[in-house]
Amino acid sequence: MHMILRSAHAADIPAVLDFWRAAAEDGHRPADSAQAVAALIARDPEALILAVDEGVLVGTVIAGWDGWRCHLYRLAVAPAYRGQGIARSLVEAAEDRLRRLGGIRVDAMVLDDNSTAHPAWRALGYQPQAQWSRWVKPLPVQ
Ligand SMILES: CC(C)(COP(=O)(O)OP(=O)(O)OC[C@H]1O[C@@H](n2cnc3c(N)ncnc32)[C@H](O)[C@@H]1OP(=O)(O)O)[C@@H](O)C(=O)NCCC(=O)NCCS
Repeated sequence: MHMILRSAHAADIPAVLDFWRAAAEDGHRPADSAQAVAALIARDPEALILAVDEGVLVGTVIAGWDGWRCHLYRLAVAPAYRGQGIARSLVEAAEDRLRRLGGIRVDAMVLDDNSTAHPAWRALGYQPQAQWSRWVKPLPVQ
């Protein structure tokens, strides 16, 4: 394996969407769209980090920084590549980025029933925070 980590470009969007359909956790969220990923890359060109092995997309994470807080989204590794430290590399790259930007704490949204992800997040140093729940409101389309 000769894996590199790099920021996503607009040309990667179709491959990213295909990858997420195959590899990402997919519950309880709006459907992905090319427009949404393009908006992310346009607003913050270093937020979406890709793991690429010999030209093949094998992992992703979004390291989101809004100037106030740090959030990780879309941590996913291709099923055939799991258990080789790719998620760890992606999360460490995301944390490096967020630290450089001034972040002091990172959070990740993890479904309560995503039992595969829980041991990975724990191994990476993350803990559930019992005091909080996520409150959401979909914005009406205007
Ligand atoms: C969760 C996921 C990203 C882990 O990717 P991965 O590349 O296999 O993880 P890594 O090999 O980098 O492992 C990182 C650490 O987590 C641990 N870990 C990962 N998966 C584990 C599992 N299923 N059970 C126990 N420990 C696990 C590893 O032992 C490792 O710890 P270590 O470095 O101390 O040895 C991958 O299983 C995945 O894509 N799942 C589907 C998408 C998903 O649910 N993403 C999370 C959304 S919140």
